[in-house]
Amino acid sequence: MTEPVKIHLYAKNLSVTQEIATQLAQIVTAGTIILLEGDLGSGKTTFMQAFGRALGINTTICSPTFTLIDEYIDGRLPLYHIDLYRLEPSQVPSLHLEEYGRDGDFPLGVVAIEWASKMPHLPESYLKINFSISEVLPIETEDKSSSLNESLQIADESLDDFLEELPEGRDIQITAHGDFYCEMLQHFAINYSNF
Ligand SMILES: Nc1ncnc2c1ncn2[C@@H]1O[C@H](COP(=O)(O)OP(=O)(O)O)[C@@H](O)[C@H]1O
Ligand SMILES: [Mg+2]
Repeated sequence: MTEPVKIHLYAKNLSVTQEIATQLAQIVTAGTIILLEGDLGSGKTTFMQAFGRALGINTTICSPTFTLIDEYIDGRLPLYHIDLYRLEPSQVPSLHLEEYGRDGDFPLGVVAIEWASKMPHLPESYLKINFSISEVLPIETEDKSSSLNESLQIADESLDDFLEELPEGRDIQITAHGDFYCEMLQHFAINYSNF
């Protein structure tokens, strides 16, 4: 297998993030696995909402934090949108996520997993997207090491206020693991630079 291929993108605002998601949605195929990582509020769900719209999904895509797995079947491809945030890594195998990645009980589609770092075993090949908030948050200046935990506590209290105060810039890193995804990412990069 070839080495992972990585590209770095900068989304100066929400619409750039949405454009990146839209462009990626044009080229994904049935069976594509996308792992999304990044702190709370970094843009994983927002990215998937634009991605889903570009797949032709008319249903509103919500955060699957509580439902764990949401299925959308009205687009060009089925979308299985998963969020592992509330799970311990030891609980993840019981979801049998591998069932979504092969043609069987579920029609093959795009499997998108938020908080993929909770997966105890990664698939053999996949596309990984890392989101990070570009500017330093006020909360990080107090204690950088616990910023995520603090963010998570804030989320429980008042997620909307927290999200509203976030700066707009996002660093978006896309890494392709495996030949199939390396080709997909090269294709994406060519289209994106023409945009
Ligand atoms: N450039 C950007 N990209 C993505 N989201 C952004 C951007 N700028 C501001 N936002 C806001 O940040 C928040 C991201 O929240 P969300 O997508 O739910 O994050 P996550 O799923 O990673 O926890 C949303 O309120 C969104 O409107
Ligand atoms: Mg989310």
